[in-house]
Amino acid sequence: MSNHTRTFPSDFVWGAAASSYQIEGGAEPSQRGQCIWDEFGRRPGMVRGGDTGRVACEHVDRYKEDVQLMKAMGLKAYRLSICWPRVLPDGTGKVNEQGLAFYDNLIDELLANGIEPWVTLYHWDYPVALHRRGGWLNPASSDWFAEYSRVVVDRLSDRVTKWFTINEPQVFIGIGFGTGEHAPGMKLSMDDQLRMSHNVVLAHGKSARIIREHAKKEPMLGWAPVGVCGIPATESVEDIDAARQHTIGTGENPIWSNTLFGDPVFFGSYPEQLEPRMDKVLHAGWRNDMKTVCQPMDFYGVNIYRGDLVRAGQDGKPSIIPPGVGTPRSDFGWEITPDVLRWGAQFLFERYQKPIIITENGMSNADWLDLSGRVQDPQRIDYIARHLRGLRLAMDDDIPVMGYFHWSLMDNFEWAEGYHQRFGLIHVDFVTQQRTLKSSAYYYRNVIETDGASIWENTSRTSEGAEQ
Ligand code: NOJ
Repeated sequence: MSNHTRTFPSDFVWGAAASSYQIEGGAEPSQRGQCIWDEFGRRPGMVRGGDTGRVACEHVDRYKEDVQLMKAMGLKAYRLSICWPRVLPDGTGKVNEQGLAFYDNLIDELLANGIEPWVTLYHWDYPVALHRRGGWLNPASSDWFAEYSRVVVDRLSDRVTKWFTINEPQVFIGIGFGTGEHAPGMKLSMDDQLRMSHNVVLAHGKSARIIREHAKKEPMLGWAPVGVCGIPATESVEDIDAARQHTIGTGENPIWSNTLFGDPVFFGSYPEQLEPRMDKVLHAGWRNDMKTVCQPMDFYGVNIYRGDLVRAGQDGKPSIIPPGVGTPRSDFGWEITPDVLRWGAQFLFERYQKPIIITENGMSNADWLDLSGRVQDPQRIDYIARHLRGLRLAMDDDIPVMGYFHWSLMDNFEWAEGYHQRFGLIHVDFVTQQRTLKSSAYYYRNVIETDGASIWENTSRTSEGAEQ
């Protein structure tokens, strides 16, 4: 802790993130193939307020304006995702030239404005045509994903060098196919969810291999899972170890763990305690898949929003301290636990030994335009400052952290919550499509300009100053 500079390295990747279905719009059948979220949104009662992503932020038409806003914020990088059925309307086979051209133009626009694209191949907009054929449960699903990856890599890898295969498998399996709260709204058994998780890591591996073998420019790749993170209640060795166990354990519901997904991808094996279960549910030769699943990776991307406070219980086992009535929460109700970036980065680096990149972190807030036409969001400013301080502490302890992507670039379609949760640095009026930089966007610009030094200052002063 003694010799840290309080700033971040000059090559630190300062970015913001969004995903295709959540912002693009341009969803008519003449524009792209249908995805499971199109269908899910039409089912009464599944998405709050009956909202859908049909229009979203009209990003397909407004991407130039959006890139200018990113530039105004001083972003160095933008994490975007590609909509699979926009590229391949049926998931495989015939390519939609118009769809690919959109991503071509977006990438060119970003690069022309000095913003590096970090591309995620799958962020939940699964082609309906493939879902009808069994989706991720079909043994062919990993080959479908590889075929799609090849089309994208052939087209974009002369300019794109940063790749993520899959976003948050825990969530799209756990609540898309477990609880049924997300598309496609199914409630499968745990055995089926585990079979699906195997196909998903295999799809990751095949895609990673395609990227490595076919990219025209030397690629750097990772993926963007999410998972449970423990925060030690005190800095005693016992509590730290309990928080670590909580972070790398497989808990009651293994689908929510870091290691059900991280271990096969980074080690080529499942956590020991899950092996007997995998033996029971997977096909006989599953171990032969592991060489394909485990491809060389350049970094450990991870989405982290909140963590559980953990202390060592009896026998040193993790014991979660439930949040109290006074715990600060976002508009979504998620607890604000800034130390999670410090400990999440540390525990995941310890386990996987890859530089960490925070691929998402952010909060929803009840933001609106005030009488002066500004959107003042001091909570988000405070959230950013606190979380970046937490991340910096991990770096002080020699954990390599490459970058930070704030979720989200702009307010957007928050899945089952529709347009009711605003996560953006940019406010979007969903009726007029008017964009307004929030105070937090100016604050973040200042953070980027100062290599992070300003996170240590009084946040109200730095954001006000920057906005003038
Ligand atoms: C993670 C998901 O990747 C993203 O799509 C979502 O909007 C945020 N979490 C916030 O819930």
